[in-house]
Amino acid sequence: MKIIFLGAPGAGKGTQAEIFSARLGIPTISTGNILRAAIQAGTEVGLQAKALIDAGQLVPDQVILAIVKERLSHDDCAKGFILDGVPRTLAQAQAMEDMGIVIDRVVDLEVPDEAIIQRMSGRRVCESCGAPYHVEANPSKTEGICDHCGGKLVTRKDDRAETVKERLEVYHSVTEPLKDFYGERGLLCTVPGDKGSLEDVSAAIAKTLGV
Ligand code: AP5
Repeated sequence: MKIIFLGAPGAGKGTQAEIFSARLGIPTISTGNILRAAIQAGTEVGLQAKALIDAGQLVPDQVILAIVKERLSHDDCAKGFILDGVPRTLAQAQAMEDMGIVIDRVVDLEVPDEAIIQRMSGRRVCESCGAPYHVEANPSKTEGICDHCGGKLVTRKDDRAETVKERLEVYHSVTEPLKDFYGERGLLCTVPGDKGSLEDVSAAIAKTLGV
């Protein structure tokens, strides 16, 4: 199954992508995590992306498309994959279609802006593997330590309130039009991302995906 998780920053894409990756046995490709790893490693892409991410702006389409093309060429993507946070411009979506990337379903997680702003203040991420947590809704078993890899949990720099507001503006103006793009292709399914617990949201996604 080839799935895109679409939604505003903080809608729960990464959290749910991780759950469904384990459940379906397919990898998650998170361009945000790949870019943060590149920043940590000090690569050319990382240097180019850092200021843009810290300011809540998007990284250029050609950089993102090169990352996606390279990652999808790995053997583990042969059976399927989950795209988390990509595409997020019409140009990226069109280019991926032109590259012959066929998508089965696009899960749009809908969460109101006010709920997102509140959520982001409690988010922690693993600085090693990128796994997302929340101090109340999804805490790690040991405080400050990742359940998966034992890495340190940190607050993302772009989760500052002013940056979250900027990211939401970018989302509404540049990424939200993708709902029409995939709706016209009959691929879009919309799931409320703030109704109930993480498990309730997972159950709603599973139902819509038929898995
Ligand atoms: P990226 O890392 O993709 O950030 P994002 O899309 O802004 O999404 P987030 O990771 O912030 O949120 P999420 O939806 O995954 O939510 P999460 O599951 O963590 O991208 C970062 C930056 O990289 C971008 O700003 C851009 O600069 C650049 N970039 C990346 N891809 C790009 C692209 N394609 N093109 C151009 N630039 C790109 O959940 C959030 C919190 O809520 C967590 O704490 C979680 O535990 C909690 N939570 C989740 N579900 C629930 C629930 N049901 N109830 C309560 N809490 C919940």
